[in-house]
Amino acid sequence: MIRSQVRGVGSALPRRVLTNAELSQMVDTSDEWIVQRTGIRQRHIASDDETTASLGEAAARAALANAGLTPADIDLIVLATSTPNNTFPATAVEIQNRLGMHHGFAFDLQAVCSGFVYAVSVADLHIRGGMAKRVLVIGAETFSRILDWSDRTTCVLFGDGAGAIVLEAVEMHGTGADTGILSSALRSDGAHKDKLYVDGGPSTTGTVGHLRMEGKEVFKHAVGMITDVVTSALAAGGATADDLDWFVPHQANLRIIDASAKKMGIAPSKVVATVSDHGNTSAASVPLALSVAVADGRIKKGDLVLLEAMGGGFTWGAVLLRW
Ligand code: ACO
Repeated sequence: MIRSQVRGVGSALPRRVLTNAELSQMVDTSDEWIVQRTGIRQRHIASDDETTASLGEAAARAALANAGLTPADIDLIVLATSTPNNTFPATAVEIQNRLGMHHGFAFDLQAVCSGFVYAVSVADLHIRGGMAKRVLVIGAETFSRILDWSDRTTCVLFGDGAGAIVLEAVEMHGTGADTGILSSALRSDGAHKDKLYVDGGPSTTGTVGHLRMEGKEVFKHAVGMITDVVTSALAAGGATADDLDWFVPHQANLRIIDASAKKMGIAPSKVVATVSDHGNTSAASVPLALSVAVADGRIKKGDLVLLEAMGGGFTWGAVLLRW
């Protein structure tokens, strides 16, 4: 049996850090309000020379170095993003070119904040279906470019960044090992479109548009939806919440993360939270958090890890894997 195993992980953040104190000079807000409601203390914001493609490329190179591989070893790039460099071609193809890769194939996947979890699931299917042996799965975003910087209800929440993993086909037959991606659960429901969306697009306004959100409405649905997919992924993987070593959630809001973990009976000591330093980086948040927890020695080989996310659409999903 073929399984998709994580072989490397990496990340990249824009140079510029924007603190809550600086934000309070730009809109009517305060460090106290932002920290109390979200847990966010700072976020990184892309400068003019930093884009989704450049951040994605840097994260991809870091993941390849961590895996001890080069672009020549990769068959497929799946980039999860809602902030592509251009409407087309796919930014994944631009990253492919930046990596000097002229073989294989690359495409973007758009599921907003659930994008990375969706992309891992799709990459896993390509590996298990025999279409690719090694896949770069990247989450990269520049949400700062679609924020309305005069709207304090949204502009304080988001940041820019990128994270990536290298997934590799591993033959499990006869090894007795049970590693790699064990299960995935994906969901979406477009009835919730108006609660979190961008008010522009090529086929409607012909503009890029700005992010609009009914924060309270998103909050109201988040914990239930997260619990739904986590329960499905755990059941499909033959595991329980007690078996988990690490819970790596989408980093939107510390209150949502804490409430979800509590509802599922996951101990706070098993929760990886990076939202205080990165803000909500949409599809980049889960691989950024993974990258931090691997680099500081928390996530180790053999650990049972649960990834989950919920975002615009709504979309929501979870992936269970043994590192
Ligand atoms: N600074 C100061 N005051 C503010 C700010 C701010 N940045 N933003 C809003 N307020 C005010 C509001 O105007 C309101 O004032 P009022 O009572 O005088 O009308 C008050 O604070 C309370 O506002 P609420 O919206 O009720 O605050 P709430 O407690 O719901 O917190 C928040 C808002 C943080 C957005 C919360 O609802 C939330 O986290 N929701 C989930 C959002 C989320 O996770 N989105 C990402 C999903 S992932 C994706 O796909 C992108």
